[in-house]
Amino acid sequence: MVGVGVIASALGIAAGLLIDWFPVSASKEAKSIDTLWDVLIIFSVPVFVGVTTVVLFSVLKFRMRPGEENLDGPPIHGNTRLEVIWTAIPAIILVGLCTYAFVVLEDVEAAAPNPVKVRVVGEQFAWTFFYTGADGKEIKTASHQLHVPIDRQVQFTLQSKDVLHDFWVPAFRIKKDAVPGIDVTYSVTPNRLGAYPIVCAELCGLGHAVMRSSAVVQSQADYEKFLSGLGKPAAPAGGAGGGAAPAEDGKTVFNSSAGNCKACHTLADAGATGTIGPDLGTVLKGKDEAFIKDSIVDPNKVIAPGYQADIMPPDFGQTLTPAQVDALVKYLSDVTKGG
Ligand code: CUA
Repeated sequence: MVGVGVIASALGIAAGLLIDWFPVSASKEAKSIDTLWDVLIIFSVPVFVGVTTVVLFSVLKFRMRPGEENLDGPPIHGNTRLEVIWTAIPAIILVGLCTYAFVVLEDVEAAAPNPVKVRVVGEQFAWTFFYTGADGKEIKTASHQLHVPIDRQVQFTLQSKDVLHDFWVPAFRIKKDAVPGIDVTYSVTPNRLGAYPIVCAELCGLGHAVMRSSAVVQSQADYEKFLSGLGKPAAPAGGAGGGAAPAEDGKTVFNSSAGNCKACHTLADAGATGTIGPDLGTVLKGKDEAFIKDSIVDPNKVIAPGYQADIMPPDFGQTLTPAQVDALVKYLSDVTKGG
């Protein structure tokens, strides 16, 4: 039994440590969390294997054989030494691991000076991110794709408009529930440039599986550029002549972080290949501008065959300016005229 337990433990620990279970790590906190995981594997695999080996051995060795139906086992009145040992050893292991986990948690939660603040709002089934400007005030325009600077602590405040969601960037390793009615916070320090998936990790309804977005870790300069693009009044006083010139370019809005239509939709003209929502070249083909506008600001009005309601964020009418919506409608109308 000991031999089986030792071999199975060794195999289990090897599988736990050698296989690369996690996605690439993109935060300062990830390293100590991954080490914590490894240590927990090293301790918990032998416990699991030990218990299962004893159970299987006992089932086999002490099973009832034909003719033993009415026999009782030998009377046992406890074994103090054994009971002390099997209480003390797990208690020591538990206290040790809890202390270690607490130290890691303290370390991960330590506040750094001058954090970047981002308010994360979850709703069925989308994430919206609100940023703080240089003046310390929240910028009105939000984005559906998260942007954060590299090597600065980001302090998230999680909120939910409807049900429980869970804001998780696996590459950052940390996640917490967004709970309606309260503000939940956590901090993370991104330390690797790139774009990483954001997923909702709390079953929140039909669209839970598609409640995804991406987190872009960029240089401080690029982040500031992104912020100033967000904060800019969307419709500057028109051109020199009469002010009738369109203030926004539809294709730009389509691909911007505010619109980010490309994350979910396919549209050949914009080079977009998203598959969460319908191919706009197909479903908008030959539709008039009123239909296209409704599809943006009131996405549940008409649902394309094969797709579900409540998947597309219902608030583009608020997060985009009227000028941006109009530009988007005009652009989509132009590129889907067909013929
Ligand atoms: Cu939101 Cu699952």
